[in-house]
Amino acid sequence: MKNLTTKNHQKVILVGDGAVGSAFAYSMVNQGLAEEFGIIDVVKERTEGDALDLEDAQVFTAPKNIYSADYADCKDADVVVITAGAAQKPGETRLDLVNKNLKIFSMIIKPIVDSGFDGIFVIAANPVDILTYATWKFSGFPKEKVIGSGTSLDTSRLRVALAKKFNVDPRNVDAYIMGEHGDSEFAAFTAATIGSKPLTAIAKENGLSEDDLLEIEDQTRKKAYEIINRKGATYYGIATCLMRITKAILRDENAVLPVGATLNGEYGLNDIFIGTPAIINANGLAGVIEVPLSDREQDAMAKSAETLKKVTQDGLA
Ligand code: 2OP
Repeated sequence: MKNLTTKNHQKVILVGDGAVGSAFAYSMVNQGLAEEFGIIDVVKERTEGDALDLEDAQVFTAPKNIYSADYADCKDADVVVITAGAAQKPGETRLDLVNKNLKIFSMIIKPIVDSGFDGIFVIAANPVDILTYATWKFSGFPKEKVIGSGTSLDTSRLRVALAKKFNVDPRNVDAYIMGEHGDSEFAAFTAATIGSKPLTAIAKENGLSEDDLLEIEDQTRKKAYEIINRKGATYYGIATCLMRITKAILRDENAVLPVGATLNGEYGLNDIFIGTPAIINANGLAGVIEVPLSDREQDAMAKSAETLKKVTQDGLA
């Protein structure tokens, strides 16, 4: 029974059923999102096993048709989420994965496009900004229909760190990590607020110097390494970010989320996908929010973009 016919039938296909992919699938089931959820992976048995396992959870969430899918199933999907590819091992950077994962993406994107897929791509494999750009290139899709997870996870990490520091709910911390999802990312502290009050003022009142804030930025940047060194991989955080981005698309939310977005002159940048807050709805990227940056932050954005452009040029040449 592949096609449940309900009034608002929505379909998501996951490509890549590893740790991140299966955690994303679980998050989608838990949120009761998408009536139809197909899973593609080179290890077909794993997708079959995951579909059988996940369908047992729907009794407590919402009915859903979960199945092991093929590329042809992408045809009428609203969203295709790609988590396929090699993951960082202890000691590796995200950029170290570029050649391996570009090769994998060059094989994945074609059959998805050939299926007739006309929805939104959401990309999460690393280095995510490069692979998001590659997806746009390989697919020939309009840029707005390709979204990367970008600095969504890093932004969550920053908000959690600031929430702990100032003892507030992380949902009420309005602060972004921007730039590359990787070692050149930075915190846009100047525009950050908690309850509409500038973070810099709150930090001062609490006896924190600029260096203390930069220390929080650095810890945020290194958090993936801390997790990978302990458990070999990160997946719950990124899976939940992917669910949130997918939900904004499925529900046509116009949600402002940190993602890997294509830029059109914002921050003086073009021809790049990079982490910035952006507006996400059923058409994909509806707009970029250009955050006011200090000189240090603008400089960090330019350097991050330079790093990405160089890797993109080398990798896709
Ligand atoms: C993360 O930041 C490894 O990119 C992955 O958790």
